[in-house]
Amino acid sequence: MTQRLDGRVAVITGAGSGIGLATARRFAAEGAKVVCVDLDAETGAKAANEVGGLFVQADVTDEAAVRDLFQRAVDEYGRLDIAFNNAGISPPDDDSILTTGLDAWKRVQEVNLTSVYLCCKYAIPHMQRQGKGSIINTASFVAVMGAATSQISYSASKGGVLAMSRELGVQFAREGIRVNALCPGPVNTPLLQELFAKDPERAARRLVHIPLGRFAEPEEIAAAVAFLASDDSSFMTANTFLVDGGISGAYVTPQ
Ligand SMILES: NC(=O)c1ccc[n+]([C@@H]2O[C@H](COP(=O)([O-])OP(=O)(O)OC[C@H]3O[C@@H](n4cnc5c(N)ncnc54)[C@H](O)[C@@H]3O)[C@@H](O)[C@H]2O)c1
Repeated sequence: MTQRLDGRVAVITGAGSGIGLATARRFAAEGAKVVCVDLDAETGAKAANEVGGLFVQADVTDEAAVRDLFQRAVDEYGRLDIAFNNAGISPPDDDSILTTGLDAWKRVQEVNLTSVYLCCKYAIPHMQRQGKGSIINTASFVAVMGAATSQISYSASKGGVLAMSRELGVQFAREGIRVNALCPGPVNTPLLQELFAKDPERAARRLVHIPLGRFAEPEEIAAAVAFLASDDSSFMTANTFLVDGGISGAYVTPQ
């Protein structure tokens, strides 16, 4: 593995599972010191332990906790080079606009969008002091495409993450801070496996739209995050970075 992130310090939210966990492994393999943040103490600590990093238990919707976690990273490792703001939820009660209540709407906005606002707000000043940094915010392909199988607050939250990342990328470009939105297609995480194992027709309905004919593996998304985190992407900022197996480019897909 190349050591593109040698000596870099990275914070990953939602590091206990799925894309966050795969990215913690990838960052560590490329030489970074990784601060693993998660609400779940067990999985978060396990991830940190595995990659030889620091675990910080935090709820990313809590402003004081977010401020403190970036400070902890800097206190422990002396700098902050990478913020992968990735924690997110997609609960079953977030569905059609006609049935989704205000509680579900607000919860998803808080965890998926407000958290990214908070993480950027408290990561950027550390990066300004260094004159360098890379922020990757996890949006989704649903930020650029509509679905008839709606998760209304989720899609709106990811649209917000995309627009906010673009704006921050532009605002801080000349201070050496890059901000990009990662837009994964559907990823083979435990949540998705459970959902589609129970309902193969539901999986088939989605797979038909993906030119590559399968869901992504978390490691494939982690590879894209490592690229955005590293200097290999030094001329990229304010970008909509789709890693979606071709979904957003497709009309008729191969049989
Ligand atoms: N899996 C997909 O198909 C897919 C596709 C596009 C985008 N995404 C996005 O990628 C990100 C990661 O998704 P994943 O599939 O790896 O999910 P996951 O459920 O496997 O992992 C999410 C992690 O975030 C943590 N978390 C949840 N709420 C938190 C909070 N308030 N504070 C701190 N940690 C919290 C969870 O404990 C969990 O460890 C999310 O933002 C998701 O919306 C996922």
